[in-house]
Amino acid sequence: MKQHLSHTPGPIGVFDSGYGGLTILNKIREALPEYDYVYLGDNARTPYGTRSFEIVYEFTLQAVNKLFEMGCHLVILACNTASAKALRSIQMNDLPGIDPERRVLGVIRPTVECIGGITQSRHIGVLATAGTIKSESYPLEIHKLFPDIQVSGMACPMWVPLVENNESQNEGADYFIRKYIDQLLSKDPEIDTMILGCTHYPILLPKIQEYTPKHIRIVAQGEYVAESLKDYLSRHPEMNAKCTQNGSCLFYTTEAEEKFVESASSFLNQQIDVRRISLE
Ligand code: DGL
Repeated sequence: MKQHLSHTPGPIGVFDSGYGGLTILNKIREALPEYDYVYLGDNARTPYGTRSFEIVYEFTLQAVNKLFEMGCHLVILACNTASAKALRSIQMNDLPGIDPERRVLGVIRPTVECIGGITQSRHIGVLATAGTIKSESYPLEIHKLFPDIQVSGMACPMWVPLVENNESQNEGADYFIRKYIDQLLSKDPEIDTMILGCTHYPILLPKIQEYTPKHIRIVAQGEYVAESLKDYLSRHPEMNAKCTQNGSCLFYTTEAEEKFVESASSFLNQQIDVRRISLE
C-alpha cells in the first residue's frame, strides 16, 4: 500500500457513514476556510451505529485508505461510531504499515475535553448510536480526564434513519426525539449537560431543544472538533505543510449522486459537485 501513496501535499479528508459528518465539516470550514477538503460519505452502507465492531472497523479502514489514495495526509473520522470502534485499531495497527506519517483523528476526544468546564452538577448524558453507547467510549474517555463526572448514555437507534431519510423536520420525528430524551433524563434527573454524541444529531437540534428542559446545556461537537483541529495544525507544522490551502471542497458518496445532492443541500448552503465511488 505504502508505495502507491503520493508524498505531495493534499486536502484534509473528512469521513462519515453518511451526511452527519457534514455538520462537522461545516464548522471546520468556518474555522479553517483556507484549507482544501475531501468529504466522503459511505451513504450506501449507512447506518454504522447498529453494525458490529468488525464491520465498522472494516468499512472505516476502507474509507481511510481511499482518502489516503486521494492524496490526504490527515483524515478526520467525523463519525462517533467509527471513532469509538475503529480509530484506535487504525492508529495502532494499520497506520504504521500504511504510512507512519499519515494521521487519523476522531471526534470523541475533542468533545470530551470540553465537558469538564461545562457541567456544574457533574452529571452528564450522552445521546449516541447503539454502537457508540455499547463501546463505552464516552464514559471511559470522560473518566480519564474527569473522574468525578457521572455519565449516563442513551442509544437513539431511530435518529440517524430520520436524518438519512430526510424526515428530520417532519412531525413523525417528534415521537422518537422526545422518547430518547425522556428515557435519558429518567435515568439521571441531575443531568445538566447533554452531549449529542453522533454527528447526525445537530440536524435534529430544533426538535431536540423543544423536548429538552431549558436548564440543560446541549453540546454539539462541530465547534469543539474544529477548534481542536486548528490547535493540532498549529502544533504540528510538519502536517500543516502537507495540507494544501486553496479553499476547495470535493464531495464523494458511495450512493447515487442525485440522492446525496438532494439531502446534503438541506444542511450545506452551497451548490456541490459530488461523485460516486466504491469502497469495496
Ligand atoms: N454519524 C455517525 C456518528 O457520529 C454514525 C451514524 C450511523 O451511521 O449510525 O456516530
